[in-house]
Amino acid sequence: MRRQPIATAPFPATLVRQAGALGLLGILTPPEYGGTRMGYLALALVVEALAAACASTALVIDVHVSTVIDPLQRFGLPEQKARWLPAMSRGERLGAFVLSEPEAGSDAAAIRTRAVRDGDTYVLDGHKTFITNAGQADVYVVFAKTAPQAGSRGITAFLVERDTPGMTFGAPMAKMGLNGSATADVHFDRCRVPLAHRLGEEGQGFKIAMITLDYGRIGIAAQAVGLAQGAFDYAFAYARQRQAFGQPIVQFQGLQFLLADLITRIEAARYLTYKAAHVADQGDARLSRYAAMAKLFASETAMHVTTEAVQVLGGHGYMKAHPVERMMRDAKASQLYEGTSQIQRLVIARRLLAEHAAR
Ligand code: CAA
Repeated sequence: MRRQPIATAPFPATLVRQAGALGLLGILTPPEYGGTRMGYLALALVVEALAAACASTALVIDVHVSTVIDPLQRFGLPEQKARWLPAMSRGERLGAFVLSEPEAGSDAAAIRTRAVRDGDTYVLDGHKTFITNAGQADVYVVFAKTAPQAGSRGITAFLVERDTPGMTFGAPMAKMGLNGSATADVHFDRCRVPLAHRLGEEGQGFKIAMITLDYGRIGIAAQAVGLAQGAFDYAFAYARQRQAFGQPIVQFQGLQFLLADLITRIEAARYLTYKAAHVADQGDARLSRYAAMAKLFASETAMHVTTEAVQVLGGHGYMKAHPVERMMRDAKASQLYEGTSQIQRLVIARRLLAEHAAR
């Protein structure tokens, strides 16, 4: 294994607190726990707007809301919600979703982290990796095997607080992009978690993870739409002022056709994302497929648009003086996390077949 270089970019902790003060983090939280419960379309609009300027900030906030607050409000006991939701919705406590392991990414059911019941506690041992917000977050939704022989039905979810003895963090990982977000390993070494901090029932963890990711993929789609729009806006503005061969380059039909194609794709990705959010808000059973379609199409769009935005700027686009190279690096992650593009295709096809079988 190669040594992992350490990331040094600052984490946007102040922005998280400010987002909380503005009410942006309570968007999925029920009012009785201090939120507005505005829903998934509202969250998509917020994440999209943030990502147009800074995809890292959008990710930090989206992971907190979509993959921690959301499963907590959906599966948590009243006392668990009362303990964590109000402060998390105000931005005073941050969350992280702890599923992936070095040998279990796309194949999430293959995780090896163990949780062994011992009286009124569980003892966790294992190694997680690529965890967004790790080290910065205060509350961790952790997935571990309570019955290893039972496959996906042997996984249980836990809420683990940052200062729990036995939970430690690796150094922040240096990444291609999203450098304002923190990504690190999480280690569990005889980490004792109270029974009262189990999220859902024993064996329900895989379904909690899958349902969380179904809803979560709307946020990643929205992040991708925002990134694409941000890169497009920058490239379009540049093309209107940059002169070549005696006129602004936007006057060349070759560039006009490119811009027309890009803005068309962005709008298509946006409305597929809003459709998925609407499906989620309606409680429609087709959420899994729509969220996967939105995440697939929007992330592929973000990669395409940001790459073409660099092209519009030519050599300038390759330089860090302009934000489009950063957007291109940031966009790549949206094709990877919360399920790769290949996993989205798998989910879409499986759901399509299941929907037809049910007819
Ligand atoms: N909702 C509810 N239940 C679901 C479900 C869903 N969407 N998907 C599957 N299940 C249930 C199935 O019904 C089945 O239940 P039964 O045992 O009762 O029959 C069980 O879960 C197992 O289902 P599968 O056989 O379909 O599971 P699988 O092992 O084939 O895996 C998969 C399916 C879709 C490939 C899944 O492993 C997956 O989503 N992989 C990608 C993981 C992923 O997205 N990781 C992201 C990491 S987190 C992250 O990136 C956040 C971040 O920090 C940015």
